[in-house]
Amino acid sequence: MEARPGVDDAALGREAQAVLDANWTGSATVPAPGLYPHQWSLDSAYVAIGLARGNPERARAELANLFRGQWRTGMVPHIVFHSTANYFPGPPVWRSHECADAPNGLATSGLTQPPLQALAVWWLWRHAAADPQARAFVRHVYPLLLAQHRYLETARDLGGDGLAAIVHPWESGMDDSPAWDPPLDALPTVRYAYHREELPDRHPDNHHDRYVWLALRYRDSGYSAAYLRQEHPFAIEDPLFNAIWLASCEALAELAPVAGADPRGVLETAERIRWALTARLWDGLFYARDLRAGRLIPVATVGSFGPLLDPRMPVDRVAALVGVLESVRFMGATGYPVPSCEIRAAEFDRARYWRGPSWVNTNWLLRHAAATHQLTDLAHALEACTLRLVRQAGFRECFDPFDGSGRGCRDFSWSAALTLDLLADSVDP
Ligand code: GLC
Repeated sequence: MEARPGVDDAALGREAQAVLDANWTGSATVPAPGLYPHQWSLDSAYVAIGLARGNPERARAELANLFRGQWRTGMVPHIVFHSTANYFPGPPVWRSHECADAPNGLATSGLTQPPLQALAVWWLWRHAAADPQARAFVRHVYPLLLAQHRYLETARDLGGDGLAAIVHPWESGMDDSPAWDPPLDALPTVRYAYHREELPDRHPDNHHDRYVWLALRYRDSGYSAAYLRQEHPFAIEDPLFNAIWLASCEALAELAPVAGADPRGVLETAERIRWALTARLWDGLFYARDLRAGRLIPVATVGSFGPLLDPRMPVDRVAALVGVLESVRFMGATGYPVPSCEIRAAEFDRARYWRGPSWVNTNWLLRHAAATHQLTDLAHALEACTLRLVRQAGFRECFDPFDGSGRGCRDFSWSAALTLDLLADSVDP
């Protein structure tokens, strides 16, 4: 591990800011130089959260540029291509320009990612309400966020009970999670020789070929909602995706008075998600539901704790979840929380992307959830351990949960941005 004992909070903050400045293209922040050279919707939401206090103007520009890529259906694409930087799968694969719903003059992917943007806008409002541009920005972006949520309600409620289904592992934000193994294994074997040399720690078998196959099938349907409902072979109700949606509905309800909107609709959506999370995904813990196989996927991941983001979760449910989170199945056994997969699961791998390592973003979400439920010790532990990770290993993409060594790429934007937020919170909670 790279030991950097001399990095105090002030130096850490400067380093984090330097990473974000280097990754700023003038219109958006790329997740990491080289590996991810475009704008990712989930990453941009985290970056906006991290910049909310220090640079709200850039946080607003980040989100405004993301919404330039929004489709007429309301879908916010997971990648917006602002440049010609080389990336696979890039615009020639997605061919968004052939789809009438896609924005004019800007190439995007055809998938979405967890809808964290409303929470990010609320974070900005909460921390920068005094900023003269803050109100105008909320009013501008509120209808776009509503359209994003309406898209999930209308096009993605494939199970019919109020949850949004992801139709590709890339939509989860936890790409290689072992939770997607059973539905991926059920797909036909395909060989595109999709291989990226710079991804040695990713899943070794042919799942990546299946990722491409799934994306091409959806594309070739013309990104059709009817195709998703009737034919698409990958449809999963994921607890983390839906918990983020719920938290974003609550954020929209709080922003409604600022935007001059009626909060009732988003509160009803939140209530439906809340009910369905329990009715459809709870079995002593939250698990993802495979809609095509008609069953829960019995792998506990960090996403199993996502529903803690619900501010109205009953206290006994909160206690049950936190009990598992703090047990030796998860953070009770590792020095650096929170492992992305239960450590006793056969699929757990401390070194492989989303199959074991700890991530700054999921730590941040769980810390936010803990603070929401006044679990101050848990919130403090998550904050302190996350800062220890980046202080020791730098702004890596993810980290070995046992020894804290860095994994994946360096200079990763959301690790830097959320560090800024954690540092700001330790002086200004
Ligand atoms: C990977 C992650 C995803 C992230 C993207 C860009 O695909 O799984 O969550 O948005 O990289 O950083």
